Amino acid sequence: MTDAYDYSDRIGRVEPSATLAISNLAAEKEAEGADIVDLSVGEPDFDTPENVVEAGKEALDAGHTGYTSSNGIAPLREAIAGKLRDDGIDASADEVIVTPGGKQALYETFQTLIGDGDEVVLLDPAWVSYEAMVKLAGGDLTRVDLASHGFQLEPALEDLAEAVSDDTELLVVNSPSNPTGAVFSEGALEGVRDLAVEHDLAVISDEIYERIVYDADHVSLASLDGMADRTVTVNGFSKAYSMTGWRLGYLHATEEFVGEAGKLHSHSVSCATNFVQRAGIEALENTDEAVEEMREAFADRRDLLVDLFEEHGVDVDVGDGAFYMMIPVGEPRADDADWCERAIEQAAVACVPGSAFNAPGFARISYAASEERLREAVDRLVANDLL
Ligand SMILES: Cc1ncc(COP(=O)(O)O)c(C=O)c1O
Repeated sequence: MTDAYDYSDRIGRVEPSATLAISNLAAEKEAEGADIVDLSVGEPDFDTPENVVEAGKEALDAGHTGYTSSNGIAPLREAIAGKLRDDGIDASADEVIVTPGGKQALYETFQTLIGDGDEVVLLDPAWVSYEAMVKLAGGDLTRVDLASHGFQLEPALEDLAEAVSDDTELLVVNSPSNPTGAVFSEGALEGVRDLAVEHDLAVISDEIYERIVYDADHVSLASLDGMADRTVTVNGFSKAYSMTGWRLGYLHATEEFVGEAGKLHSHSVSCATNFVQRAGIEALENTDEAVEEMREAFADRRDLLVDLFEEHGVDVDVGDGAFYMMIPVGEPRADDADWCERAIEQAAVACVPGSAFNAPGFARISYAASEERLREAVDRLVANDLL
C-alpha cells in the first residue's frame, strides 16, 4: 500500500544502519532455529558490572524517575569532568552534556556544527553512522583512505593534509577505531592538531573505545596544545562498562558549544534517563576491576583470532584496541558483500561487509564473543572455503 506521507529530502539521503541490518538478519535466522555465530554486533558480551546495576536499582527505589536538568545531573557531569581531567583535558562540569548514548552526542554535534554544503572529512574505514549523520545535517563528505596504510593515521598524514583545506569545517577522528581496532599514535594526533590549527578546523574525537586498548596508550585529542577550543570529545558508557542498553553517553566541548548544542538537546531528548545517570556515576567511579577483566578477555580473544587467521594464511592488520578486526576478503575470493552473504548463508557466521565502512574487500569481525564461538566461526569459514 502506498502511503500519504511526503517524505523529507533529508531522510531520503540515508540508509538504515548496515551493522544493525546484519545483526537483525542473524537474529531472524536464530529465531528460525539456526545456530549463527554472530560476529556482527558492536556490543560487549558481558553483563553490566553488578555494582552499577545495584546503583541503578537504588536510584529507582529512591524515586529518581523524573526529568533531570537538560544537560545532566551535576554529580555525573562533575564525575565526567574529573575523568576528562585525568585524561589531560582541562574540563569543567559546565562543558559537558550527558546524552542518551554516545550516538546522540555525535548527532547533536553534527547538527550543531554542520549546515548545507559544509565539508566534513572522514578517515576510512569509518564507522557507519558518521556518514549518515553528516548527510542528515546537509554536509558534504571528503574521505581519506587509511586501508592502504594498515589502517594507521600517521603514515596517511600527507593524504590528510591534501584532503583538508580552509574550506573544511570538521574532521572526525575515532581512536580506537570501529571498524579496524586501530589506535592512532600520539604523532598522528599531533599531525591532526597541526592541520586543525593551520586550517582552523573543528574536530570530533570519538573516544568511546578508549578503555579497551592493548599494547598502546590512548591519547585524548583535546589534551594536546591548541585543541581545547576546537575539539568535541565524545564518549559513552556502552562499551567500557558493557552498558549498551542503558543508553548513556556524553560530549565535552567549550561552554559556548554546550550552549548551542544544548538547545538541540533540550528540544529533542530533554535529558538522559534520570536513574541511568546515577548508575553512570558508579560506573565511572567504581569499575576499574571489571573494566580490566573485560579488557583482558578482549585481548586474549584478539590474540586467539590473530593466531587462527595466521594458521589459515590470512594476513590481518591487527589493531590495538576496541574489539574489531577487518579481515581481507577481496579478490581472489569474492567481493565483501557477497562474501558476508555466503558467510551467513553457508557457514552461519555473521560479519559486516567492509563496504558499510567504505572499505570494500574487507569484512568486519567483532570479537565480543567467547573463545569457543570464535574458534567455531573460523572452523566454519574454513570448512566453507571462505578463508
Ligand atoms: C565508533 C562509535 N561511536 C559511537 C558509538 C555509539 O555508541 P552508544 O550510542 O551506544 O554510546 C558506537 C557504537 O557502536 C561506535 O562504534
